[in-house]
Amino acid sequence: MRKKVIAGNWKMNKSLNESQELVSKIINGLGNDTKCDVIVCPPFTSLSEVHSLIKNTPVKMGAQNMYHEESGAYTGEISADMLISVGCEYVILGHSERRAIFNESNKSINNKIKAALNKKLIVIFCVGELLEQREKGITTDVVSEQITKGLDGISSENMSKVIIAYEPVWAIGTGKTATPQQAQDVHSFIRELIAKIFSSVVADNLIIQYGGSVKPDNASELLTQKDIDGALVGGACLKADSFLGIIASA
Ligand code: 13P
Repeated sequence: MRKKVIAGNWKMNKSLNESQELVSKIINGLGNDTKCDVIVCPPFTSLSEVHSLIKNTPVKMGAQNMYHEESGAYTGEISADMLISVGCEYVILGHSERRAIFNESNKSINNKIKAALNKKLIVIFCVGELLEQREKGITTDVVSEQITKGLDGISSENMSKVIIAYEPVWAIGTGKTATPQQAQDVHSFIRELIAKIFSSVVADNLIIQYGGSVKPDNASELLTQKDIDGALVGGACLKADSFLGIIASA
């Protein structure tokens, strides 16, 4: 049985004070008895302080990006070791906003995934198609290319440290969620693809999250689909009540 994993991607939101306030409310609302894994991914500037607050709670922390090099003259970038030093256990890589706005390629995402896994970070690897790609009927081709190139050279052993987040780009921040069936179809395609690339054991154990306008009122019908093992939440994770509502559905 795969455990559900609910992660909140705060994106470029929340000052330090606001971050402390939000994570405190999440911790208080959660109590100690969670049946799913809960991860918060605040902006870099809040990681250290959020980590102090989540100590001895069930909440875990991730970053939203990193660079693949260890250190050096890369102005503005953050390394895996830096993330680990402030308490990150997870890192989101390949988010569609990174791909679209910051021109990240499958190759650069692959470099980042390798670097993160080398340092024992758990990677939340995002994939998903644009609206025009879905309309052209090439969703699975797009997702397949992102996964094949993104995971090139990754060992089966390291796949236990990879979560895949399927986020159809047209559903991100638009209020337009994929239907549970649309999401399930792509999730099951991803699991079969992973079985082909790695093995059925790797595929069976893989956590595949859905992301794109997940809200408390649509979470449970998505999360009860056979191959949907959690959610990567954007907008709805910025308020404790709605994030807690999604966790309760899981
Ligand atoms: P929304 O939940 O705001 O659609 O964002 C999803 C997302 O991009 C999470 O990474």
